Amino acid sequence: MGVVASAPAKIILFGEHFVVYGEPAIVLAIDKRAYAEVACLEGKRLHFRSANLNLAGSFENGVFKEEQGDAKEVKLKFEPVKLAVEKILKTYKKDIGLDVEINSDIPVAAGLGSSAAVVTAVTAAVNALLDLKMSKDEVFRVTYEAEKVVHGTPSGVDPAISTFGGTLLFQIDTGFKPLEAKTDIPLVIGDTGVERSTRIQVEKVRKIMNNYPRVIDPLKKTAREIVLRAIDALRENDLETLGVLMNINQALLYGIGVSDESLEWLINAARKAGALGAKLTGAGGGGCMIALSNSEKLEQVSEAILRAGGRPFKARKTDEGVKIERS
Ligand code: MEV
Repeated sequence: MGVVASAPAKIILFGEHFVVYGEPAIVLAIDKRAYAEVACLEGKRLHFRSANLNLAGSFENGVFKEEQGDAKEVKLKFEPVKLAVEKILKTYKKDIGLDVEINSDIPVAAGLGSSAAVVTAVTAAVNALLDLKMSKDEVFRVTYEAEKVVHGTPSGVDPAISTFGGTLLFQIDTGFKPLEAKTDIPLVIGDTGVERSTRIQVEKVRKIMNNYPRVIDPLKKTAREIVLRAIDALRENDLETLGVLMNINQALLYGIGVSDESLEWLINAARKAGALGAKLTGAGGGGCMIALSNSEKLEQVSEAILRAGGRPFKARKTDEGVKIERS
């Protein structure tokens, strides 16, 4: 039996994409988690298996061998965890093999940070197994480096929230700061079921940012103002204002081309059913949307998302970041 660690999924309440360009974002950890069990293996083989994705494969001396699932997919899905594990073993001069078993209840490629949560859980489990005494900051940095290789130019918001949990104000320059927020932000998450790649969405936005800087600059300023206003609204539990801000934020995301038909459909359905505000969350282009509503209308909003073809679920905010479940 090995060491088991877990890390939470996240939703971005405000500021996705603009956060990549130095603007602030508000993100919260939710009660869906990725679990990783890590044990020592004889030899120097790194073996990975994902129970929920039905994929398995191993890496030894730079050679990859798939065991379960399509070779290309196995290699792609395990790339970030492999990078993180290799980085730790190299840094701490551990010339050993490891067996890594992943089990996650976070929808994949849906904007909920499943990839960062998996890498964070694996990093923490390796840290505990080998008694490396890495701090949470170090766990974050290893995960962030692995995400960079896979996602291009991520802001670091996903690994930050998976590591630290809670509700965070995140900005590239200043890092993360816990935010005061009421525990009950009544949200429904709607999964469009359309898988998308964060890297592709971030690249798409980069082109727009580079080609039309004078058009985009005012949008960046608006994105910043939304976050600043939302900090007060969260503190005061002012749901009406949060809803309005979510709708404006969605208009910006639509403007930079990361919303799509599947998301718009669910967002409109939620608003019609009485949501105070609704927007996509994460990278967009499919994946998940979130709707905020008064508690008494939550069920109605959830049903509207279902009728519109989405998969609704309620998620609770969690303060628990990465943690050891069994050592
Ligand atoms: C992805 O969860 C959020 C993006 O803003 C990318 C990033 O911040 O790394 C789209």
